Amino acid sequence: MEIIDTERVIIIGAGLGALYAALSLAPRLVLLISPEALGSGASSAWAQGGVAAAMAAPDSAARHAEDTMRAGAGLVDPQVAAEVTGEARAHILQLTELGTPFDRTAEGGYVLSREAAHSFARVVRVRGDQVGAEIMRALVTLVRQTPSIQILEGVMAVALATRDNVVGGVELQSAGPEGSASVLVRGAACLLAGGGCGGLYALSTNPPRIRGQVTGMAARAGAVIADAEFVQFHPTAIDCGLDPAPLATEALRGAGAHLVNRQGERFMVSLHVDAELAPRDVVARAIYGQSRAGLRPMLDLRPLAARGGLADYPAVTGACASVGIDPARVAIPVAAAAHYHMGGVVTDRHGRSSLGGLWACGEVSATGLHGANRLASNGLLEALVYARRAASDIAAILPMPAREVPELELPDLGRGEVPKADLVARLRVAMSEGVGVIRDHAGLTRALREIARIEAAQPDCASLRNMTACATLIAAAALRREESRGAHCRSDFPDTDATARRSRLTLREALSLR
Ligand code: SIN
Repeated sequence: MEIIDTERVIIIGAGLGALYAALSLAPRLVLLISPEALGSGASSAWAQGGVAAAMAAPDSAARHAEDTMRAGAGLVDPQVAAEVTGEARAHILQLTELGTPFDRTAEGGYVLSREAAHSFARVVRVRGDQVGAEIMRALVTLVRQTPSIQILEGVMAVALATRDNVVGGVELQSAGPEGSASVLVRGAACLLAGGGCGGLYALSTNPPRIRGQVTGMAARAGAVIADAEFVQFHPTAIDCGLDPAPLATEALRGAGAHLVNRQGERFMVSLHVDAELAPRDVVARAIYGQSRAGLRPMLDLRPLAARGGLADYPAVTGACASVGIDPARVAIPVAAAAHYHMGGVVTDRHGRSSLGGLWACGEVSATGLHGANRLASNGLLEALVYARRAASDIAAILPMPAREVPELELPDLGRGEVPKADLVARLRVAMSEGVGVIRDHAGLTRALREIARIEAAQPDCASLRNMTACATLIAAAALRREESRGAHCRSDFPDTDATARRSRLTLREALSLR
């Protein structure tokens, strides 16, 4: 394999964390690895709700931290929650300065949405449900104008090269359909910002390429993975046969939409004091239960439509229109879909992983902010905070570049083995059936065995192995956690332990449970 050395920081991923870190590192040299055209294909661009931030009294960072810890069911690191919520407002102001057109009030304040388990309306938004697309649009423009950032589009990372637990390089391949050559690029540092794992499940709200590959790749290199069992299912994916399933933002429920079933019952009212605004894990389990019972859960937007409020949610109404649903007339069928991975590459407060030379930020990381159940709209916030922190940490060890900024010359990249579609489909079914909203010992062990068979069916495919590594970690961590907590629900262990402990696993440990 050809080896290329560079003084650049290699950033793997092209979502919010990746772009914000690349900009924060400037003028230090960055090589940004994006499997698709910049701005498309990253989960951040699909985010609808917004960024959680206590922008003005009577709300406060302390209240935001309290809500984060309550939602996280005992596993949130209090120091992390205090620091992240304390920095939230500054990042909103920074994004505003960088060109994000957040919705503003007539007085110049920020329009704030209400989402589940927040004690205040504190979610900063853009045109109702356009926040991810608009933040990304602003940052993509800036990244493209920044000479220190070299962007490789259509390229994916498939392996990390390590020696003595230090990451020295990244094996790159074309993300397109042809060729077979790889190249090993050895950079000054490596930052993982490649998103989560939603697409490992049959029903997911994530962009199609997001299948846990970056978490799996890091685990295969020896990185410690934390909280892998905690996969957040979003209660209101629009159940219309599309893959991925379009999201109907939680902000709709904050604005008065109801959950009903085919019998017209508002079932959340009897299940939780906060009804539709109960914590996301509670609502997801309720939706899942209604679906399993054949009661056809639906999100009823007609209370909003009656007030002319639907115009604020163009992504949702557009998705409905594309499948012939008029939400002003009928309730939307919904299902619980894999949405966000609370677990990932364990990092410290500087974004450092357990391996030397490797940092992580955004959904691929596990900072301790989300615990067992992420508070809505804390995902983009965490990406901002840790992208900046990781960039500062890396910058502290990197010399400033020479005045001239040479572009790295790469050979024509080929593509390694492409995962077989039937194997990916089997993997997604195995995860949904065995490692889904409700789990038990028998289902988890069945899933682990099926993941092993899938891996063995195409052993030379690095991309598939990265997916199966992530899937194995999720299933093994779920098997080991013999309690129910937050998004992890075991029908055979329904109680919550008195002592809360985060899980940490290496891939080797996870494989021993398979
Ligand atoms: C939503 O808009 O409902 C999703 C927000 C999030 O996942 O943070």
